[in-house]
Amino acid sequence: MRNAFFSFLLVALFVQSRAELYAQMRPVSARKAMVVSAQKLASEAGIAMLRKGGNAIDAAVATELALAVVHPVAGNLGGGGFMLIRLANGEVYALDYREKAPLKATRTMYLDSAGNISAEKSKIGHLAVGVPGTVAGIVAAHKRFGRLPFRDVIQPAIELAEKGYPLTRYKAELLNRFAPLFMRFPGSRKYFTKGDTSRKWQEGDLFVQKDLAQTLKRIRDKGRDGFYKGKTAELILAEMQRGGGLITQEDLDRYEPKWREPIKGTYRGYELYSMPPPSAGGIGLVQLLSFVEPYNLTEMGFQSSATLHLFGEAMRRVYADRLLLGDPDFVKVPIQTLLSRNYLKERWRTFSPDTVTPSITISSGKPLVSESMETTHYSVVDAEGNAVATTTTLNGAFGSFVAVDGAGFLLNNEMDDFSLKPGTPNPGLQGYVGLMGSEANAIVPEKRMLSSMSPTILTKNGKLFMVIGTPGGSTIITQVFQVITNVIDFGMNIQEAVSAKRVHHQWMPDELRYEKDALRKDVIWALERRGWKLRELPNYYGAADGILVGDDGWLYGGADPRNEDAAVGF
Ligand code: DON
Repeated sequence: MRNAFFSFLLVALFVQSRAELYAQMRPVSARKAMVVSAQKLASEAGIAMLRKGGNAIDAAVATELALAVVHPVAGNLGGGGFMLIRLANGEVYALDYREKAPLKATRTMYLDSAGNISAEKSKIGHLAVGVPGTVAGIVAAHKRFGRLPFRDVIQPAIELAEKGYPLTRYKAELLNRFAPLFMRFPGSRKYFTKGDTSRKWQEGDLFVQKDLAQTLKRIRDKGRDGFYKGKTAELILAEMQRGGGLITQEDLDRYEPKWREPIKGTYRGYELYSMPPPSAGGIGLVQLLSFVEPYNLTEMGFQSSATLHLFGEAMRRVYADRLLLGDPDFVKVPIQTLLSRNYLKERWRTFSPDTVTPSITISSGKPLVSESMETTHYSVVDAEGNAVATTTTLNGAFGSFVAVDGAGFLLNNEMDDFSLKPGTPNPGLQGYVGLMGSEANAIVPEKRMLSSMSPTILTKNGKLFMVIGTPGGSTIITQVFQVITNVIDFGMNIQEAVSAKRVHHQWMPDELRYEKDALRKDVIWALERRGWKLRELPNYYGAADGILVGDDGWLYGGADPRNEDAAVGF
């Protein structure tokens, strides 16, 4: 079982080894509107709304619902996410529909009697499930900004679930690989296996999800109540009872998405908007960009040793500061200080261009707290210039592996994003090696677990420039950072920028990781001379999907080639 579990981490974070990465790539171009998501069918569902006269928010909701059907590894009804919306008039809104800890959750619920973190409980099975936020979130987004009737935007998802779609080879293999875990839960066994592990899914099999279609119809007819009340809620509660889960009707009734103030920053004349806590994404991105802005990256060169040294040093400092972050409804997060020029200058004082600063000598900064105080991403731009960046997740690939029997959808394992034992890194999942956590992210009933998801929008002189985001657990922030510098500093088009191989450092463990074959030998030697401990990953990770608005006013879509992502526009 351990092996099965760790191979599921590999899929969540390293993705496919046979994916080809091209040095030169052309983005998809379109004059009016574009959707880039993890699946062509989902991008097309969004585009269908735009062709019907809907706006970017209609397209986003249709894409998200379709992903719940055609991308069950991460697309979801039983998870959560963050949606960043920039209207054509320049207003930016951040919607948090992150999961919450159930009311019955406790700080030590994943520790054994000796105080050690249990390897599985927060990852597989009913106890791993946080109160889902996705349905409440997308209904709220649509209600506030959508133009088409909700029944229209949910229709493509209903049809895809009811009529089915042919499995690609990639998807058939993915489902087969996780069959031993699906077999543990009756709903998942029914929906995601052929009954036993010896009968395999084949490319071209029609994947029909009748129970999911019924759940979607209840949501179509009753909005959020179609999920949080009535039959769907009853099925969720019955599933919780079956496996000893904690979620109650009170949890479902009390779940509310939250509109939050987006994080704002600037980088070389561009304005950047991203997600505030409970995501670490926006703060991390702005910190990373601020650290590297004084340097001429263009001259230093793409993935030169000097550039990577700079990036690695910036990343370790940012991830040390991540310890200060948590759900702002429960802990004071000194956002303004963490982003202030003076604070960042002080954090950078120990930087040397010649040698590494060992992570052990770096702790999180000491901002003045007295100051007032397998995921998927899609990007959408409509013909009026409204833009949406959303990252949504079940956390690990297929979340907790528990599908709600009778309702047809998987539940998240987002509880694993809490610090299970503050001061000790979580085992696995949130990154290749678990992230270090702190008190600020300890489990408290109704608290949201800290995230790295970073849906991000950039503008130049107030005009839309880029919409970007990616899955990849703890690597999300460094991935988005590299895509942005690939475009702004290294002159790549958006397809090249999302395709380029990436590096990652997260403070602890103290190693600079890079995607398979990413770095030249001379660069590796030069980094090792500076004192870097390097680790080549066995594979590739992430799935960055972005849209760039060209100087010619056209839209350019970059879909990450590592999986099955697709840009569709017109
Ligand atoms: O919220 C987070 O940061 C994580 N739960 C995201 C997980 C993820 O990206 C896994 N996908 N590869």
